[in-house]
Amino acid sequence: MSTIELAIIGGTGLYKLADLQDVTSHEPETRYGMPSGPVRVGTLDGHRVAFMARHGEGHSVPPHKVNYRANLAALQALGAQRVLALNTVGGITERFGPRVLACPDQLIDYTWGRISTICEEEGTEVLHVDFGEPYTRSLRQAVVAAATRAHVALVDGGCYGATQGPRLETRAEIVRMRRDGCDLVGMTGMPEAGLAREMELDYACLAIVANWAAGAGPDPDEVITLQDVLDNVAAASAGLPALLKALLAG
Ligand code: HPA
Repeated sequence: MSTIELAIIGGTGLYKLADLQDVTSHEPETRYGMPSGPVRVGTLDGHRVAFMARHGEGHSVPPHKVNYRANLAALQALGAQRVLALNTVGGITERFGPRVLACPDQLIDYTWGRISTICEEEGTEVLHVDFGEPYTRSLRQAVVAAATRAHVALVDGGCYGATQGPRLETRAEIVRMRRDGCDLVGMTGMPEAGLAREMELDYACLAIVANWAAGAGPDPDEVITLQDVLDNVAAASAGLPALLKALLAG
Protein backbone atom coordinates (compact mmCIF):
# COMPACT_ATOMS: atom_id res chain seq x y z
CA MET A 1 0.00 0.00 0.00
CA SER A 2 1.44 3.37 -0.92
CA THR A 3 1.71 5.87 1.88
CA ILE A 4 -0.90 8.54 2.26
CA GLU A 5 0.65 12.01 2.16
CA LEU A 6 -2.20 13.72 3.95
CA ALA A 7 -5.34 12.55 5.74
CA ILE A 8 -8.18 15.00 6.08
CA ILE A 9 -11.01 14.73 8.58
CA GLY A 10 -14.02 16.76 7.46
CA GLY A 11 -16.36 18.38 9.97
CA THR A 12 -19.89 19.73 9.82
CA GLY A 13 -20.78 20.74 6.27
CA LEU A 14 -17.69 19.03 4.81
CA TYR A 15 -18.58 15.49 3.92
CA LYS A 16 -16.46 14.85 0.85
CA LEU A 17 -13.44 16.06 -1.05
CA ALA A 18 -14.65 17.13 -4.49
CA ASP A 19 -11.45 16.78 -6.51
CA LEU A 20 -10.34 13.39 -5.19
CA GLN A 21 -9.73 10.98 -8.08
CA ASP A 22 -9.33 7.21 -8.51
CA VAL A 23 -11.03 6.75 -5.18
CA THR A 24 -11.04 3.52 -3.23
CA SER A 25 -13.12 3.17 -0.06
CA HIS A 26 -12.03 1.53 3.16
CA GLU A 27 -13.80 0.98 6.44
CA PRO A 28 -11.28 -0.91 8.52
CA GLU A 29 -12.35 -2.26 11.88
CA THR A 30 -9.76 -1.02 14.35
CA ARG A 31 -8.84 -2.17 17.85
CA TYR A 32 -11.10 0.69 19.01
CA GLY A 33 -14.05 -0.31 16.85
CA MET A 34 -15.46 1.09 13.65
CA PRO A 35 -14.71 4.58 12.30
CA SER A 36 -17.55 7.04 11.61
CA GLY A 37 -17.75 5.90 8.01
CA PRO A 38 -15.65 5.04 5.00
CA VAL A 39 -12.21 6.47 4.43
CA ARG A 40 -11.96 7.60 0.81
CA VAL A 41 -8.44 7.24 -0.52
CA GLY A 42 -7.49 8.75 -3.84
CA THR A 43 -5.27 11.21 -5.62
CA LEU A 44 -5.43 14.98 -5.48
CA ASP A 45 -3.14 16.65 -7.99
CA GLY A 46 -1.12 13.46 -8.10
CA HIS A 47 -0.75 13.16 -4.32
CA ARG A 48 -2.19 10.30 -2.24
CA VAL A 49 -4.83 11.70 0.07
CA ALA A 50 -7.36 10.15 2.45
CA PHE A 51 -10.59 11.81 3.47
CA MET A 52 -13.18 10.88 6.04
CA ALA A 53 -16.24 12.63 7.44
CA ARG A 54 -15.93 12.89 11.21
CA HIS A 55 -19.70 12.73 11.75
CA GLY A 56 -20.28 10.16 8.99
CA GLU A 57 -21.15 11.12 5.44
CA GLY A 58 -24.81 11.55 6.41
CA HIS A 59 -23.89 13.60 9.50
CA SER A 60 -25.42 11.05 11.83
CA VAL A 61 -22.80 10.85 14.59
CA PRO A 62 -22.98 13.68 17.17
CA PRO A 63 -19.74 15.16 18.57
CA HIS A 64 -19.87 13.29 21.89
CA LYS A 65 -20.49 9.94 20.14
CA VAL A 66 -17.74 10.16 17.52
CA ASN A 67 -15.31 7.26 17.91
CA TYR A 68 -12.29 9.56 17.68
CA ARG A 69 -9.88 6.75 18.42
CA ALA A 70 -11.24 4.51 15.67
CA ASN A 71 -11.20 7.36 13.15
CA LEU A 72 -7.54 8.14 13.81
CA ALA A 73 -6.59 4.47 14.02
CA ALA A 74 -8.28 3.81 10.66
CA LEU A 75 -6.31 6.62 9.02
CA GLN A 76 -3.11 5.40 10.63
CA ALA A 77 -3.74 1.81 9.53
CA LEU A 78 -4.12 3.02 5.95
CA GLY A 79 -0.68 4.62 6.14
CA ALA A 80 -1.41 8.22 7.14
CA GLN A 81 1.07 10.15 9.28
CA ARG A 82 -0.15 13.72 8.76
CA VAL A 83 -3.73 14.53 9.71
CA LEU A 84 -5.41 17.81 8.90
CA ALA A 85 -8.60 18.25 10.90
CA LEU A 86 -11.26 20.52 9.45
CA ASN A 87 -13.40 21.86 12.27
CA THR A 88 -16.49 24.01 11.95
CA VAL A 89 -16.48 26.52 14.81
CA GLY A 90 -18.05 29.62 16.27
CA GLY A 91 -15.99 32.80 16.57
CA ILE A 92 -15.53 34.47 19.96
CA THR A 93 -12.98 37.25 19.49
CA GLU A 94 -12.80 40.04 16.90
CA ARG A 95 -10.44 38.47 14.39
CA PHE A 96 -12.52 35.30 14.12
CA GLY A 97 -15.81 36.37 12.53
CA PRO A 98 -17.98 34.22 10.27
CA ARG A 99 -16.28 32.84 7.13
CA VAL A 100 -12.78 33.23 8.54
CA LEU A 101 -10.33 30.34 8.15
CA ALA A 102 -7.94 29.90 11.07
CA CYS A 103 -5.15 27.57 12.08
CA PRO A 104 -5.25 27.65 15.90
CA ASP A 105 -2.13 27.06 17.97
CA GLN A 106 -3.70 26.41 21.37
CA LEU A 107 -6.74 24.75 22.85
CA ILE A 108 -8.72 24.39 26.06
CA ASP A 109 -10.74 21.25 26.67
CA TYR A 110 -14.20 21.67 28.23
CA THR A 111 -15.53 18.30 27.08
CA TRP A 112 -16.43 15.55 29.52
CA GLY A 113 -17.29 11.86 29.47
CA ARG A 114 -15.50 11.16 26.20
CA ILE A 115 -12.86 8.49 25.83
CA SER A 116 -9.84 10.73 25.67
CA THR A 117 -6.87 8.39 25.76
CA ILE A 118 -5.56 5.18 24.25
CA CYS A 119 -4.13 4.24 27.68
CA GLU A 120 -6.98 2.10 28.84
CA GLU A 121 -5.96 -1.49 28.70
CA GLU A 122 -4.73 -2.91 31.96
CA GLY A 123 -1.07 -3.74 31.97
CA THR A 124 -0.17 -1.27 29.21
CA GLU A 125 2.19 1.57 29.91
CA VAL A 126 0.52 4.87 30.81
CA LEU A 127 1.49 7.67 28.46
CA HIS A 128 1.87 11.24 29.70
CA VAL A 129 2.47 12.85 26.34
CA ASP A 130 3.67 16.42 26.14
CA PHE A 131 0.74 18.58 25.03
CA GLY A 132 1.99 22.08 25.78
CA GLU A 133 1.82 22.76 22.06
CA PRO A 134 -1.25 20.73 21.09
CA TYR A 135 -0.87 20.98 17.32
CA THR A 136 2.16 19.75 15.41
CA ARG A 137 4.26 22.80 14.71
CA SER A 138 5.67 21.66 11.36
CA LEU A 139 2.22 20.81 9.99
CA ARG A 140 0.75 24.09 11.26
CA GLN A 141 3.57 26.02 9.63
CA ALA A 142 3.04 24.10 6.39
CA VAL A 143 -0.68 24.97 6.42
CA VAL A 144 0.02 28.65 7.07
CA ALA A 145 2.68 28.78 4.33
CA ALA A 146 0.36 26.98 1.89
CA ALA A 147 -2.39 29.52 2.54
CA THR A 148 0.04 32.34 1.81
CA ARG A 149 1.22 30.72 -1.42
CA ALA A 150 -2.36 30.05 -2.51
CA HIS A 151 -3.48 33.60 -1.60
CA VAL A 152 -6.10 32.21 0.76
CA ALA A 153 -6.78 34.43 3.80
CA LEU A 154 -6.02 32.51 7.00
CA VAL A 155 -5.58 33.64 10.59
CA ASP A 156 -2.39 32.12 11.99
CA GLY A 157 -3.01 31.15 15.63
CA GLY A 158 -5.81 31.37 18.13
CA CYS A 159 -7.13 29.27 20.96
CA TYR A 160 -9.78 26.63 20.27
CA GLY A 161 -12.19 25.88 23.13
CA ALA A 162 -13.69 22.40 22.80
CA THR A 163 -17.19 22.13 24.28
CA GLN A 164 -19.37 19.10 24.82
CA GLY A 165 -22.36 19.96 22.62
CA PRO A 166 -24.40 19.00 20.81
CA ARG A 167 -26.24 22.10 22.03
CA LEU A 168 -24.64 25.45 21.39
CA GLU A 169 -23.33 27.51 24.31
CA THR A 170 -25.07 30.04 26.52
CA ARG A 171 -23.90 33.65 26.30
CA ALA A 172 -22.49 33.35 29.81
CA GLU A 173 -20.48 30.30 28.77
CA ILE A 174 -19.02 32.27 25.86
CA VAL A 175 -18.18 35.22 28.19
CA ARG A 176 -16.34 32.75 30.39
CA MET A 177 -14.54 31.18 27.43
CA ARG A 178 -13.43 34.61 26.20
CA ARG A 179 -12.11 35.36 29.70
CA ASP A 180 -10.28 32.04 29.62
CA GLY A 181 -8.55 33.08 26.40
CA CYS A 182 -10.57 31.18 23.79
CA ASP A 183 -10.93 32.69 20.32
CA LEU A 184 -12.93 29.86 18.79
CA VAL A 185 -15.49 27.36 20.05
CA GLY A 186 -16.23 23.96 18.59
CA MET A 187 -17.34 20.53 19.72
CA THR A 188 -14.87 18.19 18.08
CA GLY A 189 -11.37 19.55 18.70
CA MET A 190 -10.95 17.25 21.67
CA PRO A 191 -10.23 14.48 22.36
CA GLU A 192 -9.13 14.23 18.72
CA ALA A 193 -5.99 16.37 19.10
CA GLY A 194 -4.89 14.64 22.31
CA LEU A 195 -5.42 11.19 20.85
CA ALA A 196 -3.45 12.13 17.75
CA ARG A 197 -0.53 13.10 20.01
CA GLU A 198 -0.74 9.81 21.90
CA MET A 199 -0.85 7.93 18.61
CA GLU A 200 2.19 9.88 17.38
CA LEU A 201 0.37 11.36 14.41
CA ASP A 202 1.15 14.83 13.09
CA TYR A 203 -2.01 16.82 13.57
CA ALA A 204 -3.20 20.35 12.85
CA CYS A 205 -6.59 22.02 12.85
CA LEU A 206 -8.03 24.15 10.09
CA ALA A 207 -10.97 25.88 11.72
CA ILE A 208 -13.79 27.25 9.59
CA VAL A 209 -15.80 29.93 11.38
CA ALA A 210 -19.49 29.41 10.69
CA ASN A 211 -21.06 31.93 13.07
CA TRP A 212 -20.41 34.30 15.91
CA ALA A 213 -20.56 32.29 19.13
CA ALA A 214 -23.57 33.08 21.35
CA GLY A 215 -23.63 36.80 22.14
CA ALA A 216 -20.19 37.42 20.60
CA GLY A 217 -21.26 39.20 17.40
CA PRO A 218 -22.50 42.70 16.74
CA ASP A 219 -26.10 41.60 17.41
CA PRO A 220 -26.00 39.92 20.83
CA ASP A 221 -29.56 38.61 20.37
CA GLU A 222 -28.77 36.84 17.11
CA VAL A 223 -30.06 33.28 16.92
CA ILE A 224 -27.68 30.77 15.32
CA THR A 225 -29.36 28.57 12.71
CA LEU A 226 -28.00 25.43 11.08
CA GLN A 227 -28.68 26.99 7.69
CA ASP A 228 -26.43 29.99 8.52
CA VAL A 229 -23.77 27.58 9.71
CA LEU A 230 -23.92 25.55 6.49
CA ASP A 231 -24.03 28.63 4.24
CA ASN A 232 -21.01 30.17 5.93
CA VAL A 233 -19.06 26.91 5.87
CA ALA A 234 -19.75 26.59 2.14
CA ALA A 235 -18.62 30.19 1.55
CA ALA A 236 -15.54 29.92 3.76
CA SER A 237 -14.53 26.63 2.15
CA ALA A 238 -14.17 28.22 -1.28
CA GLY A 239 -10.44 28.67 -0.75
CA LEU A 240 -9.93 25.17 0.59
CA PRO A 241 -9.09 23.32 -2.67
CA ALA A 242 -6.35 25.85 -3.51
CA LEU A 243 -4.99 25.70 0.02
CA LEU A 244 -4.91 21.89 0.01
CA LYS A 245 -3.21 21.76 -3.37
CA ALA A 246 -0.55 24.20 -2.16
CA LEU A 247 -0.10 22.15 1.00
CA LEU A 248 0.38 18.95 -0.97
CA ALA A 249 2.74 20.61 -3.41
CA GLY A 250 4.80 21.54 -0.30
N1 HPA B 1 -20.37 26.60 19.19
C1 HPA B 1 -19.87 25.34 19.18
N2 HPA B 1 -19.64 24.66 18.08
C2 HPA B 1 -19.90 25.25 16.90
C3 HPA B 1 -20.40 26.55 16.83
C4 HPA B 1 -20.65 27.27 18.03
O1 HPA B 1 -21.10 28.42 18.05
N3 HPA B 1 -20.56 26.84 15.51
C5 HPA B 1 -20.14 25.76 14.81
N4 HPA B 1 -19.74 24.79 15.65
